Amino acid sequence: MEEEKIFAELSIKDAPDIKVVPPGPASKKILDYQNKNESSAVSYSKGMPMALKSGKGATLVDEDDNIYIDMFGGAGVMALGHSHPVVLEAAHKQIDKITHTLDIPTSTRQEMVSVMKSILPNELSRIFFGGPTGSDAVEQAVKLAKFYTGRNGIIAFEGAYHGMTGVSLALTTDSAHRDGIGELVPGVQFVPYPYVYRNPFGCPDEKVNEQAADNLERVLKDTHSGYSKPAAIILEGVQGEGGTIIPDPIFLQRVRTICDKHDIIMIVDEIQSGLGRTGKMFAFEHAGIVPDIVTISKALGGVGFPISAIAYREKFDKWPAGKTIGTFRGNMIAFAAGAAGLKWMVENKVPERALELGNKAMKVLKEIERESSIVGEARGIGLMLAIEMVKDKKTKEPASDYAKMIRKYAHQRGVMIEVGGHHNNVARLLPPLVITEELLMKGIEIIKGVIKDIEEGKVK
Ligand SMILES: Cc1ncc(COP(=O)(O)O)c(C=O)c1O
Repeated sequence: MEEEKIFAELSIKDAPDIKVVPPGPASKKILDYQNKNESSAVSYSKGMPMALKSGKGATLVDEDDNIYIDMFGGAGVMALGHSHPVVLEAAHKQIDKITHTLDIPTSTRQEMVSVMKSILPNELSRIFFGGPTGSDAVEQAVKLAKFYTGRNGIIAFEGAYHGMTGVSLALTTDSAHRDGIGELVPGVQFVPYPYVYRNPFGCPDEKVNEQAADNLERVLKDTHSGYSKPAAIILEGVQGEGGTIIPDPIFLQRVRTICDKHDIIMIVDEIQSGLGRTGKMFAFEHAGIVPDIVTISKALGGVGFPISAIAYREKFDKWPAGKTIGTFRGNMIAFAAGAAGLKWMVENKVPERALELGNKAMKVLKEIERESSIVGEARGIGLMLAIEMVKDKKTKEPASDYAKMIRKYAHQRGVMIEVGGHHNNVARLLPPLVITEELLMKGIEIIKGVIKDIEEGKVK
């Protein structure tokens, strides 16, 4: 109970509180300025039109003083919530000391490496900070794998999201990001991920995970498959943007075995699923395996300071000094905030708590799935939750319009969520892991109300 008090104090208790349907007049002014002056590529503020003023824990306040329950957490970045006091204190202390040192070490950098090593498996003993974004970490992981093996190809999975830069974009499957820009980085090939709800194999659903692994092995073994031996296989611990697709542990175990057998580097992208999100520090821990390289970002900067890293096995540490360089290779404020945040996470058993809260949330979401004619599947692990919307439960026809309506009307009622999935028909929930049970359940209740209104044709 005492522990829960610590979490309760982080957020605004009385959220949500909508005073004016967003965007209110003050938000609208700022949004208009953005629309006139920023790129047409800006996207989140189109799905959730508002201008934000402040954040506290799992709650956000807009310029019209509307208070929201944040169930999106800045795309999974804000695991420790907004304005976490312990993290902010560490950042404030650092900012007056030194903020940028390239990769010249400081005691702050050392502390960050040491805290990261304490949460990583011992096998992943080497840490490299590349650029500040998740995409940068993916670029570096692939570069290391290619350099080490001398091979060029990479196998990734259908539904994958690895980023928006050269190689990471080529590894990302969403045509909305890929199409119309010419040729992407070559050498990337895709195989199906074990997406049980939309079983890609036609086998019994309980066999999908094994089938996905069998298929991967088949393309590697078959000299006529068109797949040459890759440098690496990259996969998300839990597919995020692809629609929160949760593999069975057997799948990751099989991929591990296949990589070992074929001498291929296994990269697990934990940028979204890592750092407590799924109830373990890293999603691969659910399968009891250790990848060769892991990518980490998002929550790593404590309260959204941009930072990313890869951690890898000692034997791959063969690239010479300067093989890969860059200006922003670890930001001192992000290091200070990140180290403080990770320590707080461990001390307060944040991953374990996320698992418990996620299990409670899934009970309610599964009830919604049973009762609703337009919820195809509710799924989740820890606080990585999703509701896949369909027109018809039998045909499973995807309903991206319903998912977007959930985003729109939940926002208007004070809850922020996002939309993802192969068919953009999945309402995705990535609340800060510090969210209270009360706020989480209130948020889900609001989403349930929106789903009911969609079903009854009360909203369009
Ligand atoms: C699994 C995964 N990998 C990579 C990225 C890219 O990270 P960033 O947007 O920071 O470049 C994301 C972002 O959502 C992600 O979810």
